Amino acid sequence: MTLLETLGIDLPIIQAPMAGVATPAMAAAVSNAGALGSLGLAGTTAEGARRMIAAVRERSRRSLHVNVFCYAPPGRDEQRETAWLERLRPHFERHGAMPPSVLNDHYRTFLTDEAMLRALLEEQPRVVSFHLGLPSAERIRALRDRGIVLLASATNVADACAAEQAGMHAVVAQGYEAGGHRGVFDPDAEDSRLGTLALTRLLVRRLSVPVIAAGGIMDGAGIAAALRLGASAAQLGTAFIACPESDADRGYREALASDAAHHTVITRAISGRPARCLRNRFTQLGAHLSPQQVPPYPIAYDAAKALNAAAKAAHETGYGSQWAGQGAPLARVLPAAELVATLARELQQA
Ligand SMILES: Cc1cc2nc3c(=O)[nH]c(=O)nc-3n(C[C@H](O)[C@H](O)[C@H](O)COP(=O)(O)O)c2cc1C
Repeated sequence: MTLLETLGIDLPIIQAPMAGVATPAMAAAVSNAGALGSLGLAGTTAEGARRMIAAVRERSRRSLHVNVFCYAPPGRDEQRETAWLERLRPHFERHGAMPPSVLNDHYRTFLTDEAMLRALLEEQPRVVSFHLGLPSAERIRALRDRGIVLLASATNVADACAAEQAGMHAVVAQGYEAGGHRGVFDPDAEDSRLGTLALTRLLVRRLSVPVIAAGGIMDGAGIAAALRLGASAAQLGTAFIACPESDADRGYREALASDAAHHTVITRAISGRPARCLRNRFTQLGAHLSPQQVPPYPIAYDAAKALNAAAKAAHETGYGSQWAGQGAPLARVLPAAELVATLARELQQA
């Protein structure tokens, strides 16, 4: 069986699951156009996930891919969190606000989220993927036993081999170019920063399951290049941010269309984990910090969301989590279905 048959799609194109950006309308439009539409559930409760999945199913009967984050629950360090809030204080004050007195852990890692596991087992999306790590063998077995296709992002060969051994049906080779959170399993290990080209080739040579290339792929020529390297499909995130179906706000869309798109930066200052973002006020404040200064994911994210809300209330949009990959200047403002049709046409021409 080919990967496309396993995923139940016609085109070797996956719209990346993007928490906070990909919507049910986007996923449905992409799936109906023959590619794989996806939802990022990382910022959502199990109930929210069920609602999002239902909203896709109202619009599409085709394959759906949903994604959860698998990170170790964060260690709390009061001293570090207080110091972090003090560092952010002038940025809050500049916008007439005060930093929160404490930081909260609003998100749940899939590693321990029983309600989310139940929701996935009951809703049975065709594809479930994992980012930032892998769940337990029991969870993987339970999902596989329901016939759900499993994927995991990997940024290096060791993580990819672990994903294959754990029972993934395919592995997403996420290169350093990629927008959003880097899928590194251990955020404190030295990052080998492999680009999409080298990583895809390394994984194609090493793994026996199919490889999906991700990072900096923006058009049919990029997808064709990934396929030539031996990838079975390409996963594109940044290419879909400017679609009208996306949840990106006005500031994010304007930044994506600006010079900032030429200067994406990896920062952990926003969420607590390394992620690629358009250069903005937040990436600038995060420059030259040591990883130890920033609270871990998702504790730091709580501060970032409060600061972004305060700044936006004062009409400053430069503190958003404006994730984007190195191909950002190539993003097109097209409805998702039209973008998929354009990518398919370009791929054929390439
Ligand atoms: C706005 C945005 C949000 C993202 N959110 C997620 C996510 O929730 N889960 C996930 O596995 N990957 C996420 N990613 C990473 C993508 O899966 C993929 O690796 C990346 O988009 C590929 O690089 P590209 O953006 O250059 O296409 C996100 C990427 C972007 C741009």
